[in-house]
Amino acid sequence: MKNYHSIIKKARKYLNANRIIAIPTETVYGLAGNAYSDIAVKKIFTLKKRPKNNPLIVHYGKFKKLKEDCYINKNFEKLYKKFCPGPITFILKKKKDSKISKYVSSYKNTLAVRFPKKKITRKLLFQLDYPLAAPSANMSTSLSPVTASDVKEEFGKKIKFIIDGGKSSIGLESTIVDLTNKPKILRYGGITSKDLKKILKVKIKTKLKTKKIISPGQSKFHYSPGIPVRTNAKDVKKNEAFIKLFQTKKRKGNYFYLSKKGSLKEAASKLYSTLRKIKNKGYKSIAVEKIPKKGFGIAINDRLERASYK
Ligand code: TXA
Ligand code: MG
Repeated sequence: MKNYHSIIKKARKYLNANRIIAIPTETVYGLAGNAYSDIAVKKIFTLKKRPKNNPLIVHYGKFKKLKEDCYINKNFEKLYKKFCPGPITFILKKKKDSKISKYVSSYKNTLAVRFPKKKITRKLLFQLDYPLAAPSANMSTSLSPVTASDVKEEFGKKIKFIIDGGKSSIGLESTIVDLTNKPKILRYGGITSKDLKKILKVKIKTKLKTKKIISPGQSKFHYSPGIPVRTNAKDVKKNEAFIKLFQTKKRKGNYFYLSKKGSLKEAASKLYSTLRKIKNKGYKSIAVEKIPKKGFGIAINDRLERASYK
């Protein structure tokens, strides 16, 4: 992107006026507003039609700024050093005198925080006096956007400014890890529990499905393309789209492939765009072949299970 300077200037103007813009990140696009401002944060919830009890992630540039809002601990320091900026979100205890709007985390005493790596967004964060509250830039329960045009498809004219940063390189939301107690994964992403274990040297629990929803990415029905999805499919029915993991020579019109090179990382990055493409082509249902549950495959399976939940 050539014109960083003028884009950032325009973004700051919008954000300083408590307006909402869309920002690119390496995971998915976010719907961003001033995290200190009640007005801006309320607008995010309204735009997304998001339930008020589903808290938002706050995005930071500088580490120093985070310390104004949260208590940090040893585990956080280790993971920060290794993975930030990058596709990981931490749940930390919020400071009482933090300026973060109470609407961000629905009156909770914890805060979800993340340091995105995407260059233009990082530059923007460095130039603001406040961090940005930003959920994924899609309507509640729908597919997360990985391009500027996906955001347009979700919100149309309701979002007046989208920073176009091209396609999100990771293409799945960040891994969420709760560090307020023993480390617990609340949402799978590109950073796996194996990666976390290597750094923290303790067993990492996961808590993806709960009756009492801590993290609504945990709710069973989510990430939906709006048409039925069935997983672990061995074959495809007439008029159904078939998502296959790796591209082979046998090409059929209704076959869609997640990876050319045979990598699960590439497959993860293409999952949402493929689901969106299939929906836009007018298919009424989707079959997905079995995806191995390792590495990025864990996050892919997690999202597909939720997309297929009835
Ligand atoms: O990759 C990402 O994380 C993207 C980009 C834009 O940063 N953001 C994203 O935000 O996926 P969103 O709002 O779609 O998902 C945030 C998840 C939700 O499931 C929410 O419930 C959880 O984070 N969350 C936020 N604050 C929390 C808290 N204090 N405790 C537990 N979960 C929290
Ligand atoms: Mg989301």
